[in-house]
Amino acid sequence: MRRRPLRLLATITLAAAAQSAAAEGIGDAARGADLFKGQCAGCHQIGNGAANRVGPRLTGVFGRRAGRVDGFAYSKAMARMGSDGLTWTLETLDPYVANPRALVSGTRMNYRGLPDATDRADLLAYLRDFSDQPGNIPEAEPTARKTDPDLDPAILAIQGDPDYGAYLSSECATCHQADGSDQGIPSITRWPPQDFVVAMHAYKQKLRPHPVMQMMAGRLSNDEIAALAAYFAMLD
Ligand code: HEC
Ligand code: HEC
Repeated sequence: MRRRPLRLLATITLAAAAQSAAAEGIGDAARGADLFKGQCAGCHQIGNGAANRVGPRLTGVFGRRAGRVDGFAYSKAMARMGSDGLTWTLETLDPYVANPRALVSGTRMNYRGLPDATDRADLLAYLRDFSDQPGNIPEAEPTARKTDPDLDPAILAIQGDPDYGAYLSSECATCHQADGSDQGIPSITRWPPQDFVVAMHAYKQKLRPHPVMQMMAGRLSNDEIAALAAYFAMLD
């Protein structure tokens, strides 16, 4: 499978975005409307009578489980995240829009991501206006997590030791097949190491919902994650 290297993470900017969102509501919805037109409307409709197009309709997306619009054929990856419990909130939409594959690696949404935190805040303010009960979605109460997501670029720069990764991987291999076959559990071989690191930290920060993987990732140090990334990247 072809994977593009991920750009720097949504999650890094997340706390900052949530903070600025708290200060000013979420953002400027009027500006968000223009951004929607330019960035999203080619694939998505929103509002009354919106239909599914290339992407699912986004009316009421706040508060909704991922992958649950009737009549839309989602990717396996998105359907799986929905079953795991991924729900669209300020906190999860922000990283998804910033870099869709960082949150849902196998997503079919063919969109590079919106790197600017202010743009995202404005866009999300616009999307929220089409939620069923926007009043229930906190403005001042930031959904910001109390823990600081400490993913700094230095973490991505760590050169993992593949031999150490091989040693650590025996635990992973009880579920993830070393030959990369996908039997309900996604393959994790041959990812660009940085994508792998991003995915593991998304579990660690509980942005990705799967509880087993949250626990797995939560126990690993940054060096261990880098080592595993280096090891799995070179497995054939
Ligand atoms: C090239 C087409 C395309 C563009 C551009 C695009 N999307 Fe998507 N979007 C999709 C597809 C296809 C899916 C379904 C993804 C899947 O099943 O993995 C999707 C899914 C989503 C979802 C998940 C919806 C759900 O029901 O779970 C959200 C939220 C979303 N897009 C928001 C946006 C926003 C906001 C923009 C603009 C910044 C955008 N998308 C731009 C095609 C696109
Ligand atoms: C008990 C079974 C189990 C074990 C052990 C396990 N995983 Fe996972 N892993 C899963 C499942 C199930 C998923 C899909 C989770 C989801 O839907 O987000 C997953 C997802 C992943 C993903 C994201 C895959 C993707 O396509 O987005 C990575 C990366 C990953 N695991 C790495 C590891 C590593 C590294 C280890 C060992 C330290 C490990 N896993 C141990 C079950 C397991």
